[in-house]
Amino acid sequence: MEKFIVQGPCRLKGQVEISGSKNASLPILAATLLFDKPVELKNLPKVKDVDTMLSLLKSLGLKIKINNKKKTVKIYKSKKIKTFASYSLVKTMRAGILVLGPLVAKYKKAITSLPGGCSIGARPVNYHLNSLKRLGMKYFIKKGYIHAQVNSELKGNKIKFPKISVGATENIIIASCLAKGKTIIKNCAIEPEIKDLCNFLNKAGAKIKWTGKRTVKIVGVKSLKSIKYSVMGDRIECGTFCVAASLSEGSLKIKGFNPKLINTELNLLKKIGSKIIIKNNEINIKGSKIIKSINNLKTKEYPSFPTDLQAAFMVLLCKAKGRSVISENIFENRFTHVAELRRLGAKINIKKNKAFLDGNTLFEGAEVMSSDLRASVALVLAAITAKGHSIINRIYHLDRGYEKLEKKLSKIGAKIKRIP
Ligand code: EPZ
Repeated sequence: MEKFIVQGPCRLKGQVEISGSKNASLPILAATLLFDKPVELKNLPKVKDVDTMLSLLKSLGLKIKINNKKKTVKIYKSKKIKTFASYSLVKTMRAGILVLGPLVAKYKKAITSLPGGCSIGARPVNYHLNSLKRLGMKYFIKKGYIHAQVNSELKGNKIKFPKISVGATENIIIASCLAKGKTIIKNCAIEPEIKDLCNFLNKAGAKIKWTGKRTVKIVGVKSLKSIKYSVMGDRIECGTFCVAASLSEGSLKIKGFNPKLINTELNLLKKIGSKIIIKNNEINIKGSKIIKSINNLKTKEYPSFPTDLQAAFMVLLCKAKGRSVISENIFENRFTHVAELRRLGAKINIKKNKAFLDGNTLFEGAEVMSSDLRASVALVLAAITAKGHSIINRIYHLDRGYEKLEKKLSKIGAKIKRIP
C-alpha cells in the first residue's frame, strides 16, 4: 500500500489552484441518469470517488467519454440501462446511494446496495428512503440491497426532513425533477455543493426554486435537455490549504474557489491570527507566528463550521497558545485522527463528542496511519509542521478526495513524496 514520506518542518509559500469539488461532482454525476440527451461536465476532480461514481454509472449502462486534453467528461444514455447498483462499487463510496433517486424517477425501479457504515459513523440512509417513499417509491430491503419500484410515476408531495442531511436532500431534489407535479422540501441541507447541483439541473430545464433558507420547491418536468456544465471548486480542499498556510506561518495565494462560500472558516482563521485578503476571487492568506486558541469550535451544518474541516482545524489548534475545545456534532465517530495526532506529540483528551486540546504542541515526526479521507489530510498537515521525518500509511483514503495533493504541496515548499 502506498504511503507518504514527509520531512518537516517547512513553511508553505506560493500559489495553489483548487480542483473541482468532489462533493458537487458526485450528486451531479448521479443526476446524469435523469437525462436522455448527452451531458458534458468540466472541472471534475481526478479523485478515486469520482472514478468510482463513473464506474457505477457505466455499470448502469451509461456511456462515458473522458477527454483528458480538454478535461471534459461526456455522458450518454445507452440503449440498455440497468438498474442494479452493486455492493462492490457502493461500499467504497457511500455516495453511491445517490443513484437511487434518479433511477426510480426515470426508470421506475432500482436495486441498489445499502452503502454500509465507515470509520466516521453508521451512515444510515433512512432519510433518503423515507423521503423517496413520500413521492411514491415502494421498497423492501433484502440481503443488504434496497429493492425499489414505482407504480406508474413518482408524484410530487410535501416533505420535511427530521434532521438536516446533505445526501438525502440531494437524492430527493434529483428525484423530484421528474416527479409529476409539485414537491416542497423543508429542513434541507444548503451546502454550496447542493446549490451547484440545483444550478446544473435548472440549466438543463428543471424547475427548482429556493423559497426559504432551507425550503425548496420543485415542479416536475417531462425531460431534461443536453447541457455542458463546469463543476464548482472544492470547498474542503480550499479550507485545507487555508489551514496549511495558517499552520506553517506560510503565505499562500489560493485560486479556483469562491471565497464567499467559506466565510465561517475564514473568520475563524482571522480569529486565530491569520491575515487574509480577498482580491478578485482569490484568497491571500498569511499564517501568524502566534496561533490563538478557540474554546468552543462546534461542527454544524452549513453555513456553520463544517465537520469535514474538523480534523485539519484540530491540527492547527494543537499548535495554538493555550487550550481549545472542539465539539463534533455531525458524525458519531469522527475523532479517529486523535490517536495518530498523539503519536506526533499532540496532547488531546476526548470526552464523548468533545476534544480537549492542551495546545502549545511541537509536533515531532513519527509513523502514522490514515483512517478516513479528512483524517488523512490532517496527518499530512501535522507532518509538514512536525520536526523530523514522518511516514503516513494507507493514503488510499486521501486519494478518494484530494487531486494530486503531494504535487500541489511540493510546489509550495513541502518535502513530501509518495512511495509504493
Ligand atoms: C455528506 O455526507 C458529505 N459527503 C460528507 O463528506 C460530509 O461530511 C457530510 O455530508 C456532512 O456535511 C458527500 O457529499 C459525498 P449527511 P452525507 O447525510 O450526505 C445522519 C467527505 O469527507 N443521517 O449530511 O452522508 C448521518 O449519519 C464526506 O467528503 C441519518 O441519520 O452526510 C450524519 O450523522 C465525509 N440518516 C448526519 O445525518 C440519513 O438518511 C449528516 O449526514 C442520512 C444521514
